[in-house]
Amino acid sequence: MNLNATIAQLLARDGWTLDGHVARQGRRRISFFTPDTPVAKFQRIARQDRDRFLHLAVVVAATAAVMHRLRTPQLADRYPRALFTSLEELAGPLRPRTTTVATFHAEVLSNRPTEDRSHYRLVFRAPELSGLVPPQFFMMDTLPERFPFGARTVNRGPVDWTPRPMLKRPFGICRDFHPHFPADYLKRLALPPSLALTLHPPAPDHFDLLYKVLPEGLGTNLMTKLNRGDRVHMLGPLGQPFDVRPLRAAGVEEVHIIGGGVGMAPLITLVEALRFYAFPVKVFLGIATLASLRLQDELAVTFGESPRAAYVYLDDLLAAGVKPADIFLSCDMARPRRVRGLPAANLHQGLVPEQYRRFLRERPVPQAMAITCGPHRMMEVMTGICRAAGLPLKVLLEKRMGCGFGVCFSCVQKVRHADGSEDYARVCREGPLFDAEEIVWKPNSQPKWAGCGCAARC
Ligand SMILES: Cc1cc2nc3c(=O)[nH]c(=O)nc-3n(C[C@H](O)[C@H](O)[C@H](O)COP(=O)(O)OP(=O)(O)OC[C@H]3O[C@@H](n4cnc5c(N)ncnc54)[C@H](O)[C@@H]3O)c2cc1C
Ligand code: FES
Repeated sequence: MNLNATIAQLLARDGWTLDGHVARQGRRRISFFTPDTPVAKFQRIARQDRDRFLHLAVVVAATAAVMHRLRTPQLADRYPRALFTSLEELAGPLRPRTTTVATFHAEVLSNRPTEDRSHYRLVFRAPELSGLVPPQFFMMDTLPERFPFGARTVNRGPVDWTPRPMLKRPFGICRDFHPHFPADYLKRLALPPSLALTLHPPAPDHFDLLYKVLPEGLGTNLMTKLNRGDRVHMLGPLGQPFDVRPLRAAGVEEVHIIGGGVGMAPLITLVEALRFYAFPVKVFLGIATLASLRLQDELAVTFGESPRAAYVYLDDLLAAGVKPADIFLSCDMARPRRVRGLPAANLHQGLVPEQYRRFLRERPVPQAMAITCGPHRMMEVMTGICRAAGLPLKVLLEKRMGCGFGVCFSCVQKVRHADGSEDYARVCREGPLFDAEEIVWKPNSQPKWAGCGCAARC
């Protein structure tokens, strides 16, 4: 295959030109290299570019399998600040993503609360999750390794009779961090859209989990006690990946992401993927109060922001390159103040579906699709709103889970197939993302036999 002709054809669709192994458009440049190129060339580009992302290096491997091996965190130092592609992918069609489930110990790097302590941000290192494609999730122990599986009490002097959960809890990734790439690199990255679909960043090696501490939650309350250096047992990635790349061929021009409270957390990696592949994104976030977003000061540096106030979700979305004008914020408990440069017209007191309904009424949307996650009632209302507007909607379901990989049936959801027949789908196996029109939104859509049904808090 003639590599130059293939790349030139892809770039020409976006108004770029290829000269030798360098593509150009205005001040932007992309240099293509083979995997055996000396490391000094990548270092020179990274040094000269100084994280402006005006000049990028791309490693072109022969096959997709080789390319995915080259982009693992273990080999990241061989190709500092490079993106990856393969001849197979350049010649198309797009290859479906596959991931391998692993059990492993993740190392906790930090675990810090928001101002009102309703949410925590847990940063951890786990190269085993590097193949995760959103909205896949993982199951984690809520106690660190020093409390082994099955230990329901911990003997610290006087006997501690606090119940200990034996089952792992499911969580989605909020953000992932790539070796050699600054946390906010997507703000400056502007890839040619046709070529972008074949490119990959280096595989991430550490991750953020944003979790809500449930008032009655056994596991999430124990998780608040995790400390730097703790090792936590995990299982993942689980669930079906959702590859956003084919959306372009399907004619989707804009994606709306609607998150209710902590439902926004697992949607942020989807926003990152959409931004990487150069999709326009609008985000609607519904929260109770601004205090539930504001992190305690010292964590602000995670975002490369000033170490004053840092806001979960908002700073993540801005770091992912979403413009303030494309972020809409609803607070149901208090009137939202101006925050992070969001236009006043984008602030709403009330519930996020109300704001989204008004948005759809006031602005004609191009060929768009919506993805939502939040409380069941909110997702049900969103289904009605999108149906009325003729927009396809996907819902990310968060059910209680026992195993996470399809054997215990504690996570089932009633679904209706196209032929009208009804059935139960396992959220952990067939989900967690479903077409909204498939879901039977009934309070009693959980069958009596779902879950172990025991009174013990496991
Ligand atoms: C795919 C997936 C991704 C998720 N991602 C996140 C995330 O990024 N951040 C986050 O904070 N949470 C997320 N969750 C939800 C998270 O798993 C639960 O909040 C957590 O398991 C609660 O554990 P606990 O031990 O504190 O609660 P438990 O002690 O098990 O339960 C306490 C109370 O909360 C209720 N409850 C527990 N889990 C749920 C649930 N999933 N839905 C409704 N009610 C529930 C129980 O019925 C009970 O009344 C996700 C869930 C799934 C399935
Ligand atoms: S959690 Fe066991 S089947 Fe889904």
